[in-house]
Amino acid sequence: MKFENILNDNQDGILTITINRPSKLNALNRDTIQELHQAFQDAESDEYVKVIILTGSGEKAFVAGADISEFSDFSPEEGKELAAKGQEILFDYVDNFPKPVIAAVNGFALGGGLELALAAHFRVASENAKMGLPEVSLGVIPGYGGTQRLPQIVGKGRAMEMIMTAGMIDASQALQYNLVNHVTTQDELLEFTHQMASKIAGNSLVAIKSAIKAVNANYEDGVNGFEIEIEEFGRCFGTADFREGTTAFLNKRKADFPGE
Ligand code: COA
Repeated sequence: MKFENILNDNQDGILTITINRPSKLNALNRDTIQELHQAFQDAESDEYVKVIILTGSGEKAFVAGADISEFSDFSPEEGKELAAKGQEILFDYVDNFPKPVIAAVNGFALGGGLELALAAHFRVASENAKMGLPEVSLGVIPGYGGTQRLPQIVGKGRAMEMIMTAGMIDASQALQYNLVNHVTTQDELLEFTHQMASKIAGNSLVAIKSAIKAVNANYEDGVNGFEIEIEEFGRCFGTADFREGTTAFLNKRKADFPGE
């Protein structure tokens, strides 16, 4: 599939997916969401993709939200369908993606843009980044998981404040809120994130897949995360990566994981 709204660049197994509608501040229209879904699906089955970095094109925005022009005349049923489909094909998919996903937030991350960053496994931001969930200023609420993931990450009170005020926080406040793990200059954002991705890629991606599943189990209703951890822990013992990792350690050499 040829993409029109995103760019893909794989360097040494680190796939950078750039949302590329800078004239609309990379707002997520239907096509862009579909293309992102496709890009993630391709990345899932591509053995040459180890870690994914999600970012926005241009100097101003990561993603300035869902494309408001597309849903301003929707009925309640259409609104519900928009949220349900988006959550299924992109936001939940990214959150549960079996390979690490890092959001490199390079500017405005608003509404669906912040929700996309929240769905990533963790976030790095540049100093100029601004984050918020402005939906109630439009008469709607976050529909791509923001009411659930923001409180999980920053705590209920801060999430309530951000959602109710519809305001933006800057990168240093986002760091203080643990909404982002690191803040860099605008110039250094991608290189910094890439270095972190490379470090991750040197570990066992089979074990990381299990770790993602176990960590996410903590946020699933009716699921006992400790039991999932035990199951995944046991599963690791049957992998070639585990044999390589432990053998390499005992032989005082660096592990070269086969990825199985
Ligand atoms: N949906 C559709 N178009 C959007 C958009 C969105 N979420 N965010 C920005 N755009 C478009 C603008 O309409 C404008 O298009 P135009 O040049 O054809 O008129 C273009 O992107 C540039 O945005 P502009 O508003 O001129 O930039 P700015 O620097 O003055 O303001 C923002 C930047 C981010 C403060 C402002 O664009 C904004 O508030 N966007 C909407 C944020 C939002 O509410 N998102 C949640 C959606 S649920």
